[in-house]
Amino acid sequence: MSCNCQCSTDKKNDPRFQQLDEIIKQHKEQAGSLIPVLHKAQGIFGYLPEEVQIYIAEGLNVPLSEVYGVVSFYSLFTTVPRGKYVINVCLGTACYVKGSGRIMENLKKELGISVGETTEDGLFTLEGCRCIGACGLAPVLTVNDQVHGRLTEDDVPRLIRLYKLKEEQAS
Ligand code: FES
Repeated sequence: MSCNCQCSTDKKNDPRFQQLDEIIKQHKEQAGSLIPVLHKAQGIFGYLPEEVQIYIAEGLNVPLSEVYGVVSFYSLFTTVPRGKYVINVCLGTACYVKGSGRIMENLKKELGISVGETTEDGLFTLEGCRCIGACGLAPVLTVNDQVHGRLTEDDVPRLIRLYKLKEEQAS
């Protein structure tokens, strides 16, 4: 599975793969290490492209078919690039009753994408989820780990502006 082409040199020089090497080293001897390693790898790369899955299979010495199986089974893992900010609109009953469907529609319009898609600039991914246990704040959405509650559909442009501004300030 491994090769001697330029890509292996590139990986050695890529700080993300160096970080992944460390994680593999820490988990290598532990039973059930595949899921935590995949989880951390997704944190580093933002998603799990095939080359990362192969790298992990080789590093942990597990069959590639097992890695593919786990990645495709758990919805937590994704093999397509996601945006820097992943917006998850809660579509659970309490939130839906209080208008999360309308918030979702406004987000689609504002971002020009559908659910499951990422904006062209790679900034936002839009997703829907079930109850996240914050029904008291309904309707809620999360942007990465940040929870935003008691929203209305009119809050959508302000919310997007907030994250765009954050991005401008960071660059
Ligand atoms: S239904 Fe949305 S947080 Fe519970």
